[in-house]
Amino acid sequence: MRVIVCENYEELSAQAAKIMASQIILKPNSILGLATGSTPVGMYNRLAEMNQNGDLDFSKVITFNLDEYYPIEKTNCQSYRYFMNENLFSKINIDINNTHVPNGEAADPMVECARYERAIADCGGIDLQLLGIGQNGHIGFNEPGETLSSVTHITDLTENTIKANSRFFDKIEDVPKKALTMGIGSILKAKKILLLVSGQNKHDALMDLFTPEIKTNNPATLLKVHPDVILICDRAAYGDGPAK
Ligand code: GLP
Repeated sequence: MRVIVCENYEELSAQAAKIMASQIILKPNSILGLATGSTPVGMYNRLAEMNQNGDLDFSKVITFNLDEYYPIEKTNCQSYRYFMNENLFSKINIDINNTHVPNGEAADPMVECARYERAIADCGGIDLQLLGIGQNGHIGFNEPGETLSSVTHITDLTENTIKANSRFFDKIEDVPKKALTMGIGSILKAKKILLLVSGQNKHDALMDLFTPEIKTNNPATLLKVHPDVILICDRAAYGDGPAK
């Protein structure tokens, strides 16, 4: 794992945007795995700016998002489909038909998960997967637990995640209790992974990445088995770094 510690969120966003942009410049028809949450927003703004300045072309890019609440309508402003349209897709020259988010409106979630996993494989797999991390170490919505799932699946959100994500909702009761998410195996199949970690509340989850251990109660530790991970964190998240 290559680690880049940035002084602040602005620097983290700029570094991440450079890496994403390089991927698209080197392979204009890249398959990108994308993430939601507040962490990637600064990076998305920069990518949109590059696109608007004519420095970055998304016309051949294909995207697959990690996850989506379930059930949720696409037009609901809390849905991850809505988030992606607002924060990135509507600001760049991507073909919206090339953007994929698990369907929170699917009648049968299991069928939708199998379809989603197949769609990624049919495109040839993800070239660069962007990830954030939950305070509890979740990636996508792969929540801590005794076991983890390898493929796209439906999952119950933990209390911790419901509480953390309630900041985007009017009240905590409005946060969906389930989600569809790519599995740990779906994520690890990506050729490259870019993990962004910002803020002091992520410190504990982040420090587990600097030990040799893999533990299912911090799903992000599974990233240690991947040969090509870039971790960008800010000073707030890194603090004084791992205990000596
Ligand atoms: C959600 C998403 C994750 C994301 C996490 C962190 O739960 N499912 O993919 O990494 O939030 O969000 P934030 O960046 O807002 O802390």
